[in-house]
Amino acid sequence: MVRVVMGMAGMFTFLRRFSSRLPTKIRLFTSKEASMIIFRIALILSATLFGMAIYQRTINMWAMKNIGDTFLRKEIGSRQILLGTFFREKSEQNFDGKFVIVHFLGDTRMEHPLYCHTMMANGKTMTTRAHVQRIHRGKRAANDICSWAGHLAECEVEVHTHRELRIGTTADPLESLLIHPEIPKHIRPKADLVVCMAPMYIYIEWEILLLGLETWLSMGAQKIIVPVQSASTTAYSILKKYQEKGYVEIREWPKWPTLSDVNPNGLVLSRGIEESHVNCLLHTKPWADLVVFTDIDDFYLPADPSNVIIGGTPALFKEIFDEHPQAGSLLLNIEIQFNFNFLQNTKFKQNCQVWRMKTRVVVNASRVDSVNMHETGIHRFGYVQVRVPCRKGHFYHFRHSHGTVPSPTEIDMTTLQSILNRSWKKRLFSSLNTIAASQLPPSSIESFEDFDKCMGAINAEHWTMKVSRCLTPHVCFSRLKRDVPCVAARADYAFHFSAISSSYIMTPKVCCL
Ligand SMILES: *[C@@H]1O[C@H](CO)[C@@H](O)[C@H](O)[C@H]1NC(C)=O
Ligand SMILES: *[C@@H]1O[C@H](CO)[C@@H](O)[C@H](O)[C@H]1NC(C)=O
Repeated sequence: MVRVVMGMAGMFTFLRRFSSRLPTKIRLFTSKEASMIIFRIALILSATLFGMAIYQRTINMWAMKNIGDTFLRKEIGSRQILLGTFFREKSEQNFDGKFVIVHFLGDTRMEHPLYCHTMMANGKTMTTRAHVQRIHRGKRAANDICSWAGHLAECEVEVHTHRELRIGTTADPLESLLIHPEIPKHIRPKADLVVCMAPMYIYIEWEILLLGLETWLSMGAQKIIVPVQSASTTAYSILKKYQEKGYVEIREWPKWPTLSDVNPNGLVLSRGIEESHVNCLLHTKPWADLVVFTDIDDFYLPADPSNVIIGGTPALFKEIFDEHPQAGSLLLNIEIQFNFNFLQNTKFKQNCQVWRMKTRVVVNASRVDSVNMHETGIHRFGYVQVRVPCRKGHFYHFRHSHGTVPSPTEIDMTTLQSILNRSWKKRLFSSLNTIAASQLPPSSIESFEDFDKCMGAINAEHWTMKVSRCLTPHVCFSRLKRDVPCVAARADYAFHFSAISSSYIMTPKVCCL
């Protein structure tokens, strides 16, 4: 308010001086006076606005950052990055014909026309324009810096299309990129429950990885899909072992070519989780019934964990889906945060609260087209997203160490302990026997401490106004002071520049891990 008053006072002085001059002679302002007037008007306006905003508490750091970001502009035309191409399942169609789904990244504020070109039997090219849907609005849709978001495009292709097609931004088949869509695997019966993990980025905590894999497998997941950007060779070799036995599927998840967000953590995690989930969903559709989207350190357990039964989770989810026949997806609350030794040390859980809690998502794969980390998006044929209270079970989260649990209820984890003990013993003598015989570098939680520090630093940085708002605390992840041998997914990006539409279209050619 002080500034408003000062601004007002300034205005009155100004008006008094101005009017006292007027009667004597009317003259043009000198440029110095004109700029002074503009400056003062601007000052008064901004002082009034800021004064009112601060008085009403309608402005905060975020709003001011958004105002700042608005002044940053880029003029680079449209640059879609095609992340994946899939065939639409016949069972999900209510039209005849063959359709292709293209998952791509693009600037939310632009239109992204996309065309599919396929060869017909008579040698002519069939060109169709894709129906494009934006999956979400980007991290912050308001400005240039953060406006990248996933899109789904669907177009009809020639019915015999199988190995390849061309996709471009114009109707001219010459202006296009050769794409190899994913060949769907139709495994019958479909897997009851598949887990899609968030991408691994500098991932080293192999003990947590093992706990995560073993718990999900014991709970009845048939396959765990792990997108890997980078991981320690130890973590990766464990994943490989599980992949050999068919429990895990590793998918290369390369970094995107730098968008305006220069922070690689942001590109893989903060911005990348949603897209990796969509990619995983489209990949699993042909062979999975229910898909759950989660971190390696979240589990779904019955409301009373002492009632946990081996392989019981798919049945729990099925029960909820049966209670809600219109549900395409379920939102389930994330309940507690465990400390690291959660099996032994966790005696309490937070009471169930439905209000404003973070959620995990379970979908019926054939009823949903997009997942947005904590919720779903595009549903098919009138199916809807249903938020279910935690009567039957909860998601338990145990990554972050923490001291106290608000409004605690007692829980008993011994049943889960002995289930895990038994399956783990079996695993050590079967699929993991080679790893069991070798010495692994200790997995430590030093990076968790680092994580906490990082969160603090990010929060502090936000107050300096120097950091882009695309950067969220999600960028905080494992980071080590020591050197750890690791593997990373590498990709060359193939691209085509169309002179007609002055736009780029690109797609990663994933190389290797
Ligand atoms: C998933 O959806 C399909 C198609 O609507 C349906 O046949 C199937 O029973 C559903 N699965 C569950 C577990 O509800
Ligand atoms: C599981 O194994 C650990 C380590 O061997 C042991 O301390 C714990 O008591 C076991 N728990 C159960 C319930 O068997």
